[in-house]
Amino acid sequence: MKTKILEKFKALYGDGAVCYASPGRVNLIGEHTDYNMGFVMPGAIDKAIYVAVKPNGGKVSHVYSIDYDEAVELDMTGDKPAQQWASYVYGVVKEMEKRGAKVPAFDMTFGGDVPLGAGLSSSAALESAVGFALNDTFNLGFSREELAKIGQMTEHNYIGVRCGIMDQFAVGMGKKGHAIALDCSTLDYDLIPLNLNGYKLVITNSNKNHDLVTSEYNVRRSQCEQALADINQELDVKHLCDLSEEELERVRHLISDETVYRRVRHAVTENERVNEAIDVLQKGDLVRFGELMNASHRSLKKDYEVTGVEMDTLAEEGQKLPGVLGSRITGGGFGGCTVSLVNEDNVQEFIE
Ligand code: GLA
Repeated sequence: MKTKILEKFKALYGDGAVCYASPGRVNLIGEHTDYNMGFVMPGAIDKAIYVAVKPNGGKVSHVYSIDYDEAVELDMTGDKPAQQWASYVYGVVKEMEKRGAKVPAFDMTFGGDVPLGAGLSSSAALESAVGFALNDTFNLGFSREELAKIGQMTEHNYIGVRCGIMDQFAVGMGKKGHAIALDCSTLDYDLIPLNLNGYKLVITNSNKNHDLVTSEYNVRRSQCEQALADINQELDVKHLCDLSEEELERVRHLISDETVYRRVRHAVTENERVNEAIDVLQKGDLVRFGELMNASHRSLKKDYEVTGVEMDTLAEEGQKLPGVLGSRITGGGFGGCTVSLVNEDNVQEFIE
């Protein structure tokens, strides 16, 4: 893939580009807890987005996407481009400029093997690869954490998805053979070795496209904000994930809408599941870890309502297969992939 990106660069813009890569991510557990300032447990995967870049000394930048087979001219003093794929690049530059950086014009080609719209964070991988590439090429001095925030704010301000920090953080901080236990309220994190003792994580793509821009992702986020405002009438909590299940029951009467209550119940119980998952993974209790994955899927189906028939079928049928300890939807929902914990001896059968 790297060779392909560099060859395309050479054909379009000449020699001398440097290639950067950023992985996609899979979330093991902790869905829709990030923007409620709870815990998540993602990891980077071995599929990536590659970006080749070189300063061009001019006033406008040129960017070519292999996947869309399209080139655009980016004038950073002008409006956002019409193409969404180009808006990611434009947004990253704009967010860097907001933070005081001067980003000279460049030529760029990019592409990769993270499936698009599959819930494996191809967008965060693109933001991160572009961020890293420009940071390094022009010595901008941003830290990895700042680059993650630049990626997140690109989504908010130029794409229209009010996402949390999980994806950009996971692709920036992931380490081979490890999951990340991240506290989204402080950005403190631990890298937890994935000792799967004869089990494997299998990612299954439903091929049902998940598009957070047009999905109800932002609606879920607004429902959480509404619930917090309701609860704050009596109880001073900063974020939904600060609540325990018992506390939630005590303030339940403050949440007028039953649907909104179920959204909060998902966030609160999911956060408790992640905390337990971090603990049992370190103890090597994969059976319990799998049960927590299954419970997470149920909660996303019944309380958060972000699964749908394709994802429910994949996860629920997956859970019944031999050698499977757990199976759940991963990522924002409304399509995309499942992640399953499967005994090595049963992986082939599981795939079939
Ligand atoms: C998307 C968002 C993340 C997170 C997940 C759900 O991937 O980008 O910030 O909210 O959905 O857990």
